[in-house]
Amino acid sequence: MRKQIAAANWKMNLTLQQGEALLDGIISKPHSLKENQQAVFAVPFPYLAMAQAKLAGKQNVFVAAQNCYSKKSGAYTGEVSVEMLQSLGIQYVVLGHSERREYFHESNQLLADKVNICLEFKMLPIFCCGEPLAIREANTQNEYVAKQLEESLYHLSPDQVQQIVIAYEPIWAIGTGKTASSDQAQEMHAFIRSQLAGKYGVAIADSISILYGGSVKAANAVEIFSQPDVDGGLVGGAALLVDEFVAIINALK
Ligand code: PGA
Repeated sequence: MRKQIAAANWKMNLTLQQGEALLDGIISKPHSLKENQQAVFAVPFPYLAMAQAKLAGKQNVFVAAQNCYSKKSGAYTGEVSVEMLQSLGIQYVVLGHSERREYFHESNQLLADKVNICLEFKMLPIFCCGEPLAIREANTQNEYVAKQLEESLYHLSPDQVQQIVIAYEPIWAIGTGKTASSDQAQEMHAFIRSQLAGKYGVAIADSISILYGGSVKAANAVEIFSQPDVDGGLVGGAALLVDEFVAIINALK
């Protein structure tokens, strides 16, 4: 059975104290994670150790970094290596978020390198893809997303690609309050899965979790997550509120 994931992306929000209070609030509420379900918290680098300590021993709950560098180690001032994350016990890294692609010019090729180094250190990438508004308006989103997958993931072996979680995040729906309709999400998720099937076969494509991201909130999570090819969500704004995120965890199907 595919993993279903409710992933919180805190982005560059919250102080340490606010982050601690948010995690305390979320873990104090009842939530029901089945065996194949996970809650993941992608917190800023300085809070990774705090989150890791707070969530230690919690069943099916993991901490993620929001980024990592593509090199093993060395003279890269200000960057964070996968080995550093691994030494903290971190298991997931969000890669290629549209904000990283846009503001920090991360290319498909750089992301292929980041995917490689993550897998080398047994770190699970949550690989983000998704089209900007102009591409959606031109109705070329399938080609756009297919290229992102091809250039960053298709060099992987079948074994490797199964370690990847994909997050489809249409850029026009991120932080805008504008959600893709559940049909639009399902359509793209099915397309991504068919592309993966074309490259790696149906069995492997069926085993890869594909999350939806873009203005997911408690009020729309059940409907979006109920789509057959949607395996959970990557959540920004609504993940900063205790009750919202707990409801989103509980919306996993
Ligand atoms: P949002 O962000 O839920 O605030 O739209 C999602 C994301 O960027 O991962």
